[in-house]
Amino acid sequence: MPKFYQLSRKERLEQLVAEGSIDENDANYLLANHVLPDAIAGHLGENQLGQFALPFGIARKLVVNGVTRNVAMVGEEPSVVAAASNGARMASAGGGVSVTIPAHTVAGEVVFAGVADPQAAVALIRAREDDIWDAAAYAHPSIIGRGGGLKEVTVAAIADFVKIRLLVDPQAAMGANMVNSIAEAVAKMVSGWLKQASLLAILSNYSDDPVVGTVDIPVAAVATKNVDGRTIAARIAQASAFGQLDVERATTNNKGVMNGIEAATIAIGNDYRAVGTAAHAYAARTGSYQPLTRWTTDGAILHGEIAVPLQLGVVGGATAALPLAQIAMKLGKIATVADAQAVLAALGLVQNLAALRALVGPGIQSGHMALQAGALAIAAGARDAEIGELTRQLQDTDKTLATAKKLLAIMRTRK
Ligand code: MEV
Repeated sequence: MPKFYQLSRKERLEQLVAEGSIDENDANYLLANHVLPDAIAGHLGENQLGQFALPFGIARKLVVNGVTRNVAMVGEEPSVVAAASNGARMASAGGGVSVTIPAHTVAGEVVFAGVADPQAAVALIRAREDDIWDAAAYAHPSIIGRGGGLKEVTVAAIADFVKIRLLVDPQAAMGANMVNSIAEAVAKMVSGWLKQASLLAILSNYSDDPVVGTVDIPVAAVATKNVDGRTIAARIAQASAFGQLDVERATTNNKGVMNGIEAATIAIGNDYRAVGTAAHAYAARTGSYQPLTRWTTDGAILHGEIAVPLQLGVVGGATAALPLAQIAMKLGKIATVADAQAVLAALGLVQNLAALRALVGPGIQSGHMALQAGALAIAAGARDAEIGELTRQLQDTDKTLATAKKLLAIMRTRK
């Protein structure tokens, strides 16, 4: 009897219907509703049943290092793209976001546990460092020709563990596969020297070498309908200062930053879990979880800054396999890892700006709820043209499901 993952997609769905997990309608929906060719989707995920579609949209006109870009974003929260476009518009009043990029390196760890004499093991490994460089080159010869590969080896004892840290330049790739294969090759060789198996060999998603973006916006650009720019800028700076003192605020601030960064990471087919984990670890690097962004004002200018590590790739992984990821890169004028890092850091900064301006100005619920009305209309049962009509009607109401259902019923009796 074949295993579940060995079945065709149709057979998997039939099995789930037979088990009572889903009904025929669900199975037919999953079978019919797909945008990726089966050959691609089947290779990107095991036990694939269907495709989980989310809106793919763009934040308009984000100026990053002098270049105007459309930034593709994938996500379920309608206000996120709207906020990003709004933030991009405000940032453009200050000439956009300037971003500096660190060297693109990814660290790998090879760890030995329960080492009888850790200092002696460290000395032995250091004495044979040349062999580590050779093993790394052998594990990934092609990258050397392109100027990448192993860049630094450090060895340390941590209690009775011994850690070999391998810093790798993966060039245009995100680096996970390259670092892991180099780390495993080194682990195998050093196991022979120490006469014990390694405990683990894997990349680290941590980096304390962030991408840094800054923006200087004339305060007039952040004015709201009822409040002048100078006041809003001062309140944004206060909200930022509070985040540095209060972990509950810092966390939500960073959630807003990652609203942009993770949505754009998904759009370019990159590993958003790696990006998210690295961002939060960086935010906590001092032992106190801090905002990834800071805002200050001198009265005339609102100055914003973001510092966030971004492990991204523009080749390999799903970037090439997913047609939408390729389109996302075209939209954002992303050709290199540095482009991707610059665009995503800038997006995180302007996303945060739009959120803070709304929070210290009118509050976020009015904007949020206006955009949520579409989802509410669908939840109430509206179909096709009814969705737009009901969304409009909901704007001046309490925007509850009960109201949406009532309005839909009235709309249908009038037809
Ligand atoms: C909502 O998705 C994001 C915000 O909560 C971010 C923030 O509070 O800074 C508005």
